[in-house]
Amino acid sequence: MTYARIAGTGSFLPERIVTNAEMEKLVETSDEWIASRTGIRQRHIAAEGQTTGDLAYAAAIAAMEAAGVSARDIELIIVGTTTPDVIFPSTACLVQHRLGANGCAAFDVNAACSGFIYALTVANQFIRAGTVKTALVIGAETLSRMLDWSDRGTCVLFGDGAGAVVLKAADEPGILSSHIHADGGYKELLWNPVGVSKGFTDEKNHGVRVLMQGREVFKVAVKTLDRVVEETLEANGLDRHAIDWLIPHQANLRIIQATAKRLDMPMERVIVTVDKHANTSAGSVPLALDFAVRSGKVQRGQLLLLEAFGGGFTWGSALLRY
Ligand code: UT7
Repeated sequence: MTYARIAGTGSFLPERIVTNAEMEKLVETSDEWIASRTGIRQRHIAAEGQTTGDLAYAAAIAAMEAAGVSARDIELIIVGTTTPDVIFPSTACLVQHRLGANGCAAFDVNAACSGFIYALTVANQFIRAGTVKTALVIGAETLSRMLDWSDRGTCVLFGDGAGAVVLKAADEPGILSSHIHADGGYKELLWNPVGVSKGFTDEKNHGVRVLMQGREVFKVAVKTLDRVVEETLEANGLDRHAIDWLIPHQANLRIIQATAKRLDMPMERVIVTVDKHANTSAGSVPLALDFAVRSGKVQRGQLLLLEAFGGGFTWGSALLRY
């Protein structure tokens, strides 16, 4: 049996940090409100001209170095993103060219905040099927480019960043299972309602911006993540206490705590980075994973549960032995 194993991780955050105190100057908010409701203390914001592809490339280089692979080893590149550099080519194609990995398959996956889990799932299938041996999977976003900076309900929540993993074929697991879902019926709770086909302004004459009904999203996210965690444990015949580390989507500390409670996990075994970079959408899970690996928390052989929830709605999980 062939499995996909994480051979290396990497991540990248833009240099500029915007603290909650700085957000107080932009909108009517407070450090106390943001930190107590979300756990966020600061976010990183891309410099002028710095794109999702730039962040993705930097994260990819770090992951490839950690895995000890070069561009010619890469047979597949998938980027989870909802903020591509340009409409086409895909950000994956742009990253591929910069890496010098020209010729391999390269495409983007748009599953909003679940983008990395979706991309990981697709790459896992390619490796399990024996189609490719080495894949680069990236989650990267410049959410700051599509925020309404006058809407305190959304602009304090998001940030820019990227994370990446190199997956390699191996005889031992590896990714044990992954589970992805979507329900387009919830589209209007969290969306950016403009685009190429509909036109770049909506009926209110607004351009590109994230719209969210936070309280409703929160409720569905907690319930849905509970369900996908149960599904993952059941599919693997595992007791919830078997998980060594929970590596959740970093949107809101209170959502993370709810999932940890469901798993009966102490917060010491949950990777939390939302305080440092806010919600980076598809970037958030691989950013947290790379932090967990590089800080020495996660060790080889440990069992990791990754999960995410986002616009669509989309959601998913991956259980893997690191
Ligand atoms: O990435 C995937 C998806 N996204 C999420 O998972 C986000 C899910 N939702 C959330 O994280 C939370 O719902 C929020 C952090 C967005 C909001 O927290 P909440 O505890 O659900 O607050 P709320 O929306 O119920 O708002 C409470 C109050 C409101 O005032 P009133 O109506 O009670 O007077 C808001 O107007 O807080 C007000 N408020 C703010 N106050 C200060 C909303 N945003 C802010 C703000 N600063 N930035």
